[in-house]
Amino acid sequence: MHRLSTRIKIGGKKIGLVPTMGFLHYGHLSLIKKSKQQADVTIVSIFVNPTQFSPTEDLDKYPRDLDRDKKLLSANGVDYLFYPDASEIYSHNYQTFVDVTNISSTLEGKFRPAHFKGVATIVSILFNSISPDYVYFGQKDAQQVAVIKQMVKDLKYNLKIIVCPIIRETDGLAMSSRNVYLSDNERKDALVLSRSLKLAEKLVKEGERIPDIIISQMINEINSVDSSKIDYVEIVDAENFLVPDNLIEGKRYLALIACRIGNTRLIDNTFLKVS
Ligand code: PAJ
Repeated sequence: MHRLSTRIKIGGKKIGLVPTMGFLHYGHLSLIKKSKQQADVTIVSIFVNPTQFSPTEDLDKYPRDLDRDKKLLSANGVDYLFYPDASEIYSHNYQTFVDVTNISSTLEGKFRPAHFKGVATIVSILFNSISPDYVYFGQKDAQQVAVIKQMVKDLKYNLKIIVCPIIRETDGLAMSSRNVYLSDNERKDALVLSRSLKLAEKLVKEGERIPDIIISQMINEINSVDSSKIDYVEIVDAENFLVPDNLIEGKRYLALIACRIGNTRLIDNTFLKVS
């Protein structure tokens, strides 16, 4: 990978990287499309990163279909696929981790304590292996974006992070590799996430400025579905992920949800613009 990226750079070309864990869907493809527009060479990585899963999570059953992914990548004009083996990335004496402390400790970090340490570590390894000029992430994982941006700033990575909007199914469900876990009934129930985010947007538009009131209405909406079990519903300042007392004119906030539908843990979010 080092040799390849050096060769590309000597040729004066810009590298776009799209890091993924595979089982690709239109969300991933939207990042690839953006890279194809901006960069000269697009590299996609597929690596189901063990260090970002806790021992009780779904590492072993995480959906994988490399043949299907390869076809999608070719059909979408991707130049290179990087799919290292876990033993190449984490040799048996592996010892080094990247911990982006504060931003990793809230929301997802509370429910998945080692998750962002695993994410920051693998993303850092990918940056060091590939030396991309542009790296594409989805707003679907809003906190992941914040963690990576902080890491890039702190560790002085010479690259640009580009954040792409959430791609949804026509009925509103945010696309996710994990959606295949949902049964038919759960698939319907899962719409409660995007529905309650829409409710938050509507309340803000109608003038509601107290986050607790918005959150409690979102919680009621989610709890109206039997199969749902909330991990968190939160509204944060989109800049710094701090929890506001009131929503202030001209600022941008994020409403975020993590919730189980049956046994499947889903996350979703939306921007709340107060104007
Ligand atoms: P993965 O879940 O495969 O997602 C890869 C990228 O696709 C992430 O940046 C994610 O935010 C984006 N993405 C997923 N669903 C999306 C959607 N519906 N709309 C827009 N973008 C979407 O996120 C990871 O992998 C890993 O944590 C990784 C960064 C690869 C590190 O292991």
